[in-house]
Amino acid sequence: MENKRFYITTPIYYPSAKLHIGHAYCTVAADAMARYKRLTGHEVMFLTGTDEHGQNIETKAREAGITPQQFVDNIVTGPKGVLDLWKLMNVSYDRFIRTTDDYHVRAIQRIFKRMYDNGDIYKGTYKGKYCKPCESFWTESQLVDGKCPDCGREVQDAEEEAYFFRLSKYAGRIQDLLENTDFLEPRSRVNEMVNNFIKPGLEDLCVSRTSFTWGVPVDFDPGHVVYVWIDALFNYMTALGFENDKYGDLEKFWPADVHFVGKEIVRFHSIIWPAMLMSLDLPLPKKVYGHGWLLLDGGKMSKSKGNVVDPYILAEKFGVDALRFFLLRTFPFGSDGNFSNELLIQTINTDLANDLGNLVSRTTAMVGKYFGGSLPGDQAEDPEKDAPLLEMASSLRGRYEAQMERYQFQNALEEIFKVVQRANKYIDENAPWALAKDMEANGPRLARVLYNLLEATRICGVLLTPFMPESMEKLFGQIGAGADLRTWDSVAAWGGLSETAAVTKGENLFPRVDAEKALQELEEAAEAAKRAALPAIEVEPQLTEPVDFDTFCKCDFRAVKVKACENVKKSNKLLRFTLDDGTGADRQILSGIAMYYKPEELVGKTLVAIVNLPPRKMMGLESRGMLLSAVHTERGEEKLRLIMVDDAIPAGAKLC
Ligand code: MSP
Repeated sequence: MENKRFYITTPIYYPSAKLHIGHAYCTVAADAMARYKRLTGHEVMFLTGTDEHGQNIETKAREAGITPQQFVDNIVTGPKGVLDLWKLMNVSYDRFIRTTDDYHVRAIQRIFKRMYDNGDIYKGTYKGKYCKPCESFWTESQLVDGKCPDCGREVQDAEEEAYFFRLSKYAGRIQDLLENTDFLEPRSRVNEMVNNFIKPGLEDLCVSRTSFTWGVPVDFDPGHVVYVWIDALFNYMTALGFENDKYGDLEKFWPADVHFVGKEIVRFHSIIWPAMLMSLDLPLPKKVYGHGWLLLDGGKMSKSKGNVVDPYILAEKFGVDALRFFLLRTFPFGSDGNFSNELLIQTINTDLANDLGNLVSRTTAMVGKYFGGSLPGDQAEDPEKDAPLLEMASSLRGRYEAQMERYQFQNALEEIFKVVQRANKYIDENAPWALAKDMEANGPRLARVLYNLLEATRICGVLLTPFMPESMEKLFGQIGAGADLRTWDSVAAWGGLSETAAVTKGENLFPRVDAEKALQELEEAAEAAKRAALPAIEVEPQLTEPVDFDTFCKCDFRAVKVKACENVKKSNKLLRFTLDDGTGADRQILSGIAMYYKPEELVGKTLVAIVNLPPRKMMGLESRGMLLSAVHTERGEEKLRLIMVDDAIPAGAKLC
């Protein structure tokens, strides 16, 4: 009997910063796959979660003045955190694991001990290179130009007593697994793994650390914490109940059908992970699929480069479904893709607004206009004219399935959109508006044309559900397709929809985007988000070098009244003040604050000036003294306010 279960995982995310569209890419792909498998009648386990241990998190928490647990809690469960993001993106995970969950921590301790007991983990001294941001150990030979091969950053020398996993022992079996099975896809990643990591010689892997504490403690050797990747990789099994009583789904779902992972972590999933499973004599996952990255301007998005794209902004602007669709329609899953707002808008306008949106709105509008919303049973086929659309739509499921089974989302969507385009062409070929001119003669034919359009739309709608669940729900409402017409079986062949189908013209599912306006708004939103991420208020650190009292007393501070104030010609910075300083003679001071005040708003104010500074010339004018002001930075922008004092203080009063 066919196994109708499907277990799919995403990587568990580091909650060290807010997630961006690149993270959403893999999770949305896994969600589309999980929904597709549910559609095809599988019992699905879709797992995602967060990878919460490690030195990075410990350091960041310390910098933020909170505990590591508080730090990860904020990013996982806090506002706009990981859980919120998956809710926003409509990610239908069945289980969410946090590596700080008690059951997982205890399971990792048992797993570590099992490999220690079977001799695959042993104690030694670690000498090598460590990339702190990636939390990865490297041997000299793996470095690229002396730098971390993953991120290109500097690595550090590291030496400490540590536990090692006998990775070298499994090199032959891993190479065989990679080269002679479909374990790792796409195929191109196999060569990369074999040539870069296995052929140069797999060395044993350091699997414990003593230089920080935020990790799973090795319970039989205090001071050691388990290497974060061991802790992380086993999430795929502990979340099913491996070495714990929290869950009991191991038998049912292990081995996993597929792990979706980004290309930079393929190494961990296709070498270290199967080797550890071999050590414990456990079944291997059926597949690791290493997808490409979403790039921005040709480079990887990263928080430190400040070039991350915020899914919240895009989802709010274009709708979650349009965003989900774009991610999987535009980029081949196995390769890198260049993200741009232009491309996003173009995809929405071409595929969703023009092709699909028009098909739905034209068809439902015509059923309304010509038949009052429901088609008559008296319909006239025209096999010659109808065949191309009927054949294409009725065989769509098979072509779509073939692509989905290979994780080729882009191609699966391409197959659907060929039918959508064919249906639009069918409208033009049959010109319903011309048929409608003589309803008596052409009514039955017109009804059939519209029926065929509704049925083609329904078939496409069902197959689009994994990608755009909410919009397809609305679509089914508009074309009157009830629950039994949304199923996988219902699109096996043509003709599921009742001939006397009734439509309800509803909202426009995919409105056209005004590209110029949207691009400008996105730019403004990105700017605002960047500013919002900056500290609210920043002030200069206080000086620690003491100043002696006599020196301080040499500064002569006086209250001064503004008699006149004007902009200095040809300068956009300087204001020229004419001040009453209590001496009877006017005092002129120039101050570079024109961007903060309009001259007229300062006239009559009582300010503070230091009056015994040597005179200075600016723009040909003499300035005698300086006005005191307070400066700070607000969301990255410098702010300045003049010191204004009680107007009851007379001009010339000495401040001390
Ligand atoms: N914690 C590890 C995974 C452990 S799995 C046992 C990790 N976390 S991560 O948060 O840094 O990355 C999670 C996933 O997001 C990775 O698969 C990574 O490739 C993916 N992406 C991060 N930025 C990305 C893009 N710009 N584009 C596509 N995927 C990207 O690694």
